[in-house]
This record gives sequence, structure tokens and C-alpha cells, in this order.
Amino acid sequence: MKPLIEAKGLKRYYRRGVETVKALDGVDVSIGEGEMVSILGPSGSGKTTLINLLSCLDAPSEGTLTVAGKPAAGLTEDQLVELRRGTLGFVFQQFHLLPTLTVAENVELPLVFLGRSVERRKTLEILSWVGLEDRASHLPNELSGGQMQRVAIARALSIEPRILVADEPTGNLDKKSGRMIFDLFKRLAREKGLAVLITTHNTAFGYEADRVITLEDGRIVREERPART
Ligand SMILES: Nc1ncnc2c1ncn2[C@@H]1O[C@H](COP(=O)(O)OP(=O)(O)OP(=O)(O)O)[C@@H](O)[C@H]1O
Ligand SMILES: [Mg+2]
Repeated sequence: MKPLIEAKGLKRYYRRGVETVKALDGVDVSIGEGEMVSILGPSGSGKTTLINLLSCLDAPSEGTLTVAGKPAAGLTEDQLVELRRGTLGFVFQQFHLLPTLTVAENVELPLVFLGRSVERRKTLEILSWVGLEDRASHLPNELSGGQMQRVAIARALSIEPRILVADEPTGNLDKKSGRMIFDLFKRLAREKGLAVLITTHNTAFGYEADRVITLEDGRIVREERPART
């Protein structure tokens, strides 16, 4: 099976005056359908840089990258937007829910932006995947942090992406909610065939994934497949 994301020799350098920061310094990654991959590593090791490249939010300085069968390296900002559209779903550390919209309306927002039709029945089905169908008409401030993040995951799923990307999705959550979010990601990969890509500082959560990639100084220093429980 062809991987959904395939990167070879990925580099991202930043210029800082006369200095060059090698945020990412030659990384090879391949992620398949139905696979959940965690990216671990100390602060500044390049996790966000890598996830931004693999999800086409940023372009590499060097290397080749294919996302959902399309070459992504060397594209302009507009072309990257086009590649992301409908293929990638994003989840953030700060949930970024709109406080004046209900849970259901927040979930439907990406469809509105893409000019796609909105069906409440479908929204409720997605909310049931994250265990929140009974909260559809609530406002975000009536939810717990873990519930807000599950709404954000439902929102990312509304466009039926093939790849789900999350940078520190449990950074603002307690342990119990964090584990629930990781279990949910794992289930989505398995049952919906999504490729799921996550960065975290929490090693225990990280090892819930099918594959764990550890970065140091912009390079992969370890790649593991934790035994399935
Ligand atoms: N826009 C930028 N300009 C210059 N340097 C940058 C920029 N973004 C990131 N860097 C540098 O690249 C390196 C990797 O940063 P990155 O944000 O990918 O690390 P990280 O592993 O996500 O860290 P954290 O765990 O703190 O989120 C760091 O040394 C950082 O200072
Ligand atoms: Mg980061």
C-alpha cells in the first residue's frame, strides 16, 4: 500500500542574521493509511517544524515530500493551501473553538468555509464518534477541557480528511483527558483508516501510538513500534 505521507531527506533551515538554525536536518518518514505516529523529543528538537512540513503548513528547504499522492516540496503558499484542503484535518493545543457557536456549529465550520453542504445528521454522527452527541447544542464554555478538545477533533473530522495532524493536542489537558484523547486518535486510525500524526511531550501518551519517532537536534534518533496491547 502506498504511504499517505512520504518524506526523504527533509530539511528546514532558518536564517537568523548570519546564523543558520537547522531546525530539521535530514529526516526520512513514511506514514500509511490507518497508522498513528507520535513524534517525541525535547523542546527545540524540531517536532513542530516536522509536523508543519508533513502537513503542508510550511515548505521544506530541501528534500522530497509526497502527501496523499501529490508532490508537496517546492509548492507556493497557494498550492500548499490547495493540497491541504479536504485532505488534512488539524487539531491544536489551544482548542480554538468559537465561543458564540454551539458545539455542532463549531464542528460544521470547516464545511462552511469550504462551501460544502452541512448536514446536521452527519455532524451528530461525528460527535458520536468522539462521545459528545448529547452536547451538540451546548456552548464551548459549558464543556471541560477534554470535551473541548474532542469537539476540536470532531471539527477536524468534519471534512473527512485522510490525514489528522495534532501538535501537542494534550498540552492543556490533565492526564485522564489526555489519555482519552490519545485513545480516540488510535481508534480513529484503526477504524476510519486515517493517518494520524501527533507531537507530544508526554512519553507515556506517545507510546500509545503504532509508531514512535524521537527527534533530537532536527534528526531522528530513534524509531520504535510499541507492542500492541
Ligand atoms: N520561525 C523560526 N525562525 C527561526 N528559528 C525557528 C523558527 N521556528 C523554529 N525555529 C527553531 O527551530 C528549532 C526547532 O523548533 P520547533 O518549534 O520545531 O521545536 P519543537 O520540538 O516543536 O519544540 P517544543 O517542544 O518546544 O514545541 C528550534 O531551535 C527553534 O528555535
Ligand atoms: Mg513544538
